Amino acid sequence: MAVAEKAQRDQRSIADLQGGTAQLPGAIAAEYKADVAQVIQRLNTLRSTEICSYLQYKQHAYMAVSLIGPAVRAEFIEHANEELQHADMLAERIQQLGGVPIFDPKEIADTAAKAHVNVTQGATVEAMVREDLDVEIRQVNAYIALIREIGFDDPTTRRMLEDILKDTEHHAAELRDMLSKRADTE
Ligand SMILES: [Fe+2]
Ligand SMILES: [Fe+2]
Repeated sequence: MAVAEKAQRDQRSIADLQGGTAQLPGAIAAEYKADVAQVIQRLNTLRSTEICSYLQYKQHAYMAVSLIGPAVRAEFIEHANEELQHADMLAERIQQLGGVPIFDPKEIADTAAKAHVNVTQGATVEAMVREDLDVEIRQVNAYIALIREIGFDDPTTRRMLEDILKDTEHHAAELRDMLSKRADTE
């Protein structure tokens, strides 16, 4: 937290030097009804889970070397890249709202852990797929909950969250299919 606060201070002082109005985030209009500090915090939590999800998929791609590995590995890499895109979308929105994306790795890990997302590496490809599915399901729930809370108070954030939710549900469905296909052949 201390690092993020320092970054926010630094950002403000740069804006002040440039004659900007850092205290009044440009994205906030009179009709903006959401609690902006709360939205920023929630977006930072979601972004922390996306970064952990990225790291976990990458690790799984490195380690998926068994016979059934190659196809699953390609899927892990594809998902990893999309998690990074989600993290970028969230970071851009956090900045637009006047916040600072968390960049201290320990704080990212701690924030994700509070949302029950930790980077883990199962002993088998199937265990890895189950770990990834677990993260995706947690994220689906978190995105739906925040979308419901925001309602119509912040349409831009809501639209972005809906886009990420769509990808996240798609990821979860793919992983579930992988597990059921495996069961079919047993
Ligand atoms: Fe994601
Ligand atoms: Fe995902």
